[in-house]
Amino acid sequence: MKINFSCPVCGGVLADEGRTYRCEKNHCFDKAKQGYVNLLQSQKSSKKRHGDDTLMVKARQDFLEKGFYNDLCKGLINAVLKTAKEETTLIDLGCGECWYTSQLFESLSENGNNPSVFGIDISKQALIAGSKRCKDLKLAVASTSDIPMPDESCDIAVCVFAPYAEKEVHRILKRGGVFIKAFPLENHLMGLKSAIYEKPYKNEVNEETPAGFERIDFIKTNNSITLETNEDIINLFKMTPYYYKTGRADQMKLEKLSFLETETEFGIVIYKKV
Ligand SMILES: C[S@@+](CC[C@H](N)C(=O)[O-])C[C@H]1O[C@@H](n2cnc3c(N)ncnc32)[C@H](O)[C@@H]1O
Ligand SMILES: [Zn+2]
Repeated sequence: MKINFSCPVCGGVLADEGRTYRCEKNHCFDKAKQGYVNLLQSQKSSKKRHGDDTLMVKARQDFLEKGFYNDLCKGLINAVLKTAKEETTLIDLGCGECWYTSQLFESLSENGNNPSVFGIDISKQALIAGSKRCKDLKLAVASTSDIPMPDESCDIAVCVFAPYAEKEVHRILKRGGVFIKAFPLENHLMGLKSAIYEKPYKNEVNEETPAGFERIDFIKTNNSITLETNEDIINLFKMTPYYYKTGRADQMKLEKLSFLETETEFGIVIYKKV
């Protein structure tokens, strides 16, 4: 049986009626014209939302489109194909504009898996872009701290650089289901940081197996990327937290740069729900 989103009001299953999702209690959520649905309950969410704005979404989309993070995407695809069962139900938590999500869908489909691929993100701007990128994804504006999916409904949950709540990931996964998380390692973007800061620090990595899971694999990817236009450099900068933490004087250092070589270093960890 194909799984669907759950109702954010009563928790019942939402039936997909084409333009609308509706639960048995008649709570009804219209899809936006692009195809995603807003399941974020305003009374449950804090006033200040931290979803990515148009500027961040555009910068990330332009940067990823050029293939600079292809090795991470390949690593994620391998991790998913290795762990996927037939007719996999996968959810991407904090999917952004679905650059990874859509490629995971395509790889599973090409392998004859007949998957159902969901994505949630708190940013409406990101999901507008995601809906345009791939019509086969089921996308909802929602928070990873209150995932609109039934208990034990997913085979795979993926999270790439987004915040998540361990208990929620555990709740929505089937027993034996896997949680695949990508995160930056110590030396990730050291070249970029060296161009901004006099004393660049290594990233702190705190990777701990969440309660109720066992760690079954860890993959590390290392690469060096060469950015040959100022636009690419600024796009990368805007994707990082440094852009918002850096003072104007340091920001200006990058505005003059038209060449940058920097390391990328990602970890992909796979946890299995026990
Ligand atoms: C660094 S971006 C990563 C996006 C995407 N996974 C990628 O790598 O291209 C983090 C994403 O998490 C989203 N986000 C932040 N807080 C969230 C929350 N509580 N629930 C859902 N999404 C959230 C942001 O809107 C943003 O799209
Ligand atoms: Zn309902």
